[in-house]
Amino acid sequence: MGERARPGFIRKRGEFLSRTAKGNTEIHLLAKAEGVEVMWQLVKSGAMFYLDSAQDWQGFEFIYLLSGKLAYLGSDPPHLLSPGDYIVRHLVPERSWFRAEEDSELLYVSSQPAYHLVQGEIQEFLEIARQVEVDEQLEGHSYRLQRLALQVGEELGLPPERLADLAYAALFHDVGKARVPREVLRRPHALSQKDWEIIRHHPSWGREELERKSFLKRAAAIVEQTHERFDGTGYPKGLKGEEILLEARIIAVVDAYDAMTSDRPYRRALSLDQALAELRAGAGTQFDPRVVEALLKVVKRSGGTT
Ligand SMILES: [Fe+2]
Ligand SMILES: [Fe+2]
Repeated sequence: MGERARPGFIRKRGEFLSRTAKGNTEIHLLAKAEGVEVMWQLVKSGAMFYLDSAQDWQGFEFIYLLSGKLAYLGSDPPHLLSPGDYIVRHLVPERSWFRAEEDSELLYVSSQPAYHLVQGEIQEFLEIARQVEVDEQLEGHSYRLQRLALQVGEELGLPPERLADLAYAALFHDVGKARVPREVLRRPHALSQKDWEIIRHHPSWGREELERKSFLKRAAAIVEQTHERFDGTGYPKGLKGEEILLEARIIAVVDAYDAMTSDRPYRRALSLDQALAELRAGAGTQFDPRVVEALLKVVKRSGGTT
């Protein structure tokens, strides 16, 4: 029986629908149907990735370790997975980090688009983002922002590729602040004119940092626009309305929401109702009303616990 006799549903090792290679990871999409993706992945030794349910997501993820060794970093000491071990995630609320201890091959089945795979090469940005949070006394902000931005993005019907860029942009929205002197970041009120001139550069500095990685080019463009205002009075460019990327308009709303609902050094967190009222008041001037509407829906749906 020759090659011609092979039915279409039998595939050979090395065949795939599409392939991407990013940094320390190579992914082959083997099959895709009904919203389910089946992937083969090679994760190079030392690379890290995480799994999480970035929205109120009812789906599931399954990872079967074909070869190599993975460490689950959420326990101390890390829990090791060997070939034949597998991961099943369904309605797991928290993010789970893994690191490849050796070059590892995985079979990965997901009913969520695989945007949450993180390459080792973004580690430096994660560390910068964490440092900025510490300096601004707003710990956990980036992850909360990312999670909620994705929910809002989904609510607005963004396709998976754009959700991926949104996820990166949310997580790294303030990496440009690493170039702002620490004393300035630590006194967010009572800023001098000179301080402000420095701070106003941070979106463009963030764009410059991120666009050094080709897969973050689009996220970089988003980051630069996160302080634009819907009415055109924002910075750095004074873009207006739909000139501003939708992802940036989403981050602007969610960023404000998270900052308002967090305790800050100079004030207590606003109540949920107060924060939502502030957002409504800014709809059409600072914020895109459509995005504010979507956030309200998301928050309401989650019972205000987002
Ligand atoms: Fe910012
Ligand atoms: Fe922020």
